[in-house]
Amino acid sequence: MTTTLLTGIRTLVTNDPALEGAEGPLGLVEDAAVVIEGERIAWAGPAAQAPAADTAHDLGGRAVLPGFVDSHSHLVFAGDRTAEFNARMSGRSYTAGGIRTTVAATRAASDEELAATLARYIAECRRQGTTTLETKSGYGLTVEQEARALRIASEQLDEVTYLGAHIVGPEYADDPDAYVSLVAGEMLQACAPYARWVDVFCEKGAFDGDQARTILTAGAAQGLIPRVHANQLGQGPGVQLAVELGAASADHCTHLSDADVDALGQAENTVATLLPGCEFSTRAVYPDARRLLDAGATVALSTDCNPGSSFTSSVPFCIAIAVREMGMTPDEAVWSATAGGARALRRDDIGRITPGAYADLTTLDAPSHVHLAYRPGVPLVDGVWYRGVRQ
Ligand code: NIG
Ligand code: FE
Repeated sequence: MTTTLLTGIRTLVTNDPALEGAEGPLGLVEDAAVVIEGERIAWAGPAAQAPAADTAHDLGGRAVLPGFVDSHSHLVFAGDRTAEFNARMSGRSYTAGGIRTTVAATRAASDEELAATLARYIAECRRQGTTTLETKSGYGLTVEQEARALRIASEQLDEVTYLGAHIVGPEYADDPDAYVSLVAGEMLQACAPYARWVDVFCEKGAFDGDQARTILTAGAAQGLIPRVHANQLGQGPGVQLAVELGAASADHCTHLSDADVDALGQAENTVATLLPGCEFSTRAVYPDARRLLDAGATVALSTDCNPGSSFTSSVPFCIAIAVREMGMTPDEAVWSATAGGARALRRDDIGRITPGAYADLTTLDAPSHVHLAYRPGVPLVDGVWYRGVRQ
């Protein structure tokens, strides 16, 4: 297998503090080099100690970090919600009801249209430094439509989540419990083969704690790992349920009680995934990352890219907001958008630049990862390696 030596790295974020010569939680190495062998990292460390390789590539003083791991998006959709966004920016508030607009458009779209739209957004994410992306169903809300969305997603992505419980399907508006039975029964059977995760929007206007428990437990019995849309619009049972069920993540975490923060602080396996693009685009108060970090929680940062509440695919934008508005240091935000996302997806082969991990790397036209927050809105990502191949 061919080996490639990347040299001229001013700052390398490895996220592996155990690596020789690496400092702090980000496992930083200054004046570093990386060796890629096939699709994996073979070596990372100080340039002076780098082994020989078949070819070399000089990065000219750039910062290199693991490709972003965006562990929360909703990209199997059709249509547009510009009018809803415009109304919100004129004072209307966000509710889960807008999801119905996207459900109608998605149902009317062909398989080819949905697949092409998804491919376009995956490419958009990749150009901005994201090398791993999770996405969900949730704009179909019938057995056939949810299974179709997941089949299309699974043809393009590894990390796919069944979200039949996004809102109650319009055909079941008068009988939400019958919809819960469908989601936990026939729909789950049809969807499970295409998904790794099961998710519920646990919120007023969507599903309550008991309904969420029924669906997540049924999903787990089919081998899907739970994650929960929790405490986005107000306080509620979502976070506690996520921790109790050992969910991989509680996502949003915007409105937390002290008990919720404690639960996430003590949780062994449940990551708090913060999605500041959502608060930006709904003019809501940002989640308090500092409070979670100080309580000992593991925090991930993701885009929540979707046409309703957060139509951004930019992880650097989320990092900048998290630093400016949510009490994170630049180092913490970069960790959360790389290693934190990997934790939320229970992966140790991504989110780090260390021997054995996939060679998924992002380079910045800047000497340090701190510039992601220091230079907000500037397109600093200027190179992406995915599985060892320059994109
Ligand atoms: O994560 N909260 C629920 N789902 C999405 C919003 C989806 C939509 O508005 O279309 C979210 O914000
Ligand atoms: Fe979401």
